[in-house]
Amino acid sequence: MIVFPKSFLFGTATSSHQIEGNNKWNDWWYYEQIGKLPYKSGKACNHWELYKEDISLMHSLGYDGYRFSIEWSRIFPKENEIDENALNKYREIIELLLERDITPNVTLHHFTSPLWFMQKGGFAKEENLKHWEKYVEIISEILEGVQFVATFNEPMVYVMMGYLTGYWPPFVKNPFRAFNVASNLLKAHALAYSILSGMVKVGIVKNIPIMIPASENEKDKKAAKKADNLFNWSFLNAIWEGCYKSAFGTYSVLESDVDFIGINYYTASEVKYSWNPLRFFFEAKLADLSERKTQMGWSVYPEGIYKAITAVSRYEKPMYITENGIATLDDSWRIEFIVQHLQYVHKAIEEGYDVRGYFYWSLMDNYEWKEGFEPRFGLIEVDYETYERKPRESAYVYGEISQKKEISEELIKKYGLKGL
Ligand code: GAL
Repeated sequence: MIVFPKSFLFGTATSSHQIEGNNKWNDWWYYEQIGKLPYKSGKACNHWELYKEDISLMHSLGYDGYRFSIEWSRIFPKENEIDENALNKYREIIELLLERDITPNVTLHHFTSPLWFMQKGGFAKEENLKHWEKYVEIISEILEGVQFVATFNEPMVYVMMGYLTGYWPPFVKNPFRAFNVASNLLKAHALAYSILSGMVKVGIVKNIPIMIPASENEKDKKAAKKADNLFNWSFLNAIWEGCYKSAFGTYSVLESDVDFIGINYYTASEVKYSWNPLRFFFEAKLADLSERKTQMGWSVYPEGIYKAITAVSRYEKPMYITENGIATLDDSWRIEFIVQHLQYVHKAIEEGYDVRGYFYWSLMDNYEWKEGFEPRFGLIEVDYETYERKPRESAYVYGEISQKKEISEELIKKYGLKGL
């Protein structure tokens, strides 16, 4: 049996655009409508209407934390128009969670932005940060009782997908612009930190893929280090250093801080040397570490969560696993995934690493960005025709872990890694 500290939070995670439905004022929605994205989010999980049921469900399943995001474009559908109804609904969501002893962990930006903001150049233009500040100010009014707020979800994924590879909105492929956006996100974080600090604990959520060299060759090892720096550490370092050292030079950003770091961990990348300066002298692809691949084509590598924790501990801040999950139709594989990753989280805690919570991605099946509705990450199955929710076996197993703050010997025997 393994036992977690009594105060350890076991929660689930979602994001606004992926579950709410009809988020028609943001950039993703726009590109979905004009056919630049393969799938339309439509009503998504219809959570905007079913939020009460969803909160009751997570309560009855025994989860004590919930990470969700506020949709900026719902609060400001137009530049100078605040939707009070939307603001009140988010306040109601917070209150419902608090009433049920579910600790809310609020994210202010989870990939989507208001379309009007993007039409003005989004985070590529520093002068636009005044709009972000206004949004944060408004949100600060509904946070009573909330302890944790993250400014950005996976800022480097946002930069890489939107501005470097051009795979996601706004489909830009421009490394100069990409690093400029990263530097403005750092400034935006600092501005939000100064508005919210003292009121709530302010953090940032960073995806930490483990960078594995493709071979023992020195060049590949160096390349992996470079990728690790570029993707993982240069961004986080800049928060305290007040300057962002990108591949193209140094940007001065505002010195700031965080009260916690959220780690999103899914899998590892394999990195090898490349001669190509436009690729920053490395090439990264999904690492092939397990025979079985998830619906996303990802390998399962539980040890990676331990590596992510130990690496992020360099900042000496409380850590939360803000996302970790698997897309699969095989729910017993999901149970195995959770048990094995939690075994490694527990190992880290035993060794003294300051990890205070784990949020499974996701509470329910949802709109998985460019992959649409096919990947099933949910503890709860969603029927996209009736919007009926059906907890899977894993939902109950995870609920029991959450309630007891322990993983039973029986579960470890059946699903766990030996010798951990
Ligand atoms: C994360 C992202 C989530 C979700 C998840 C699974 O990178 O924050 O929105 O899509 O990956 O792919």
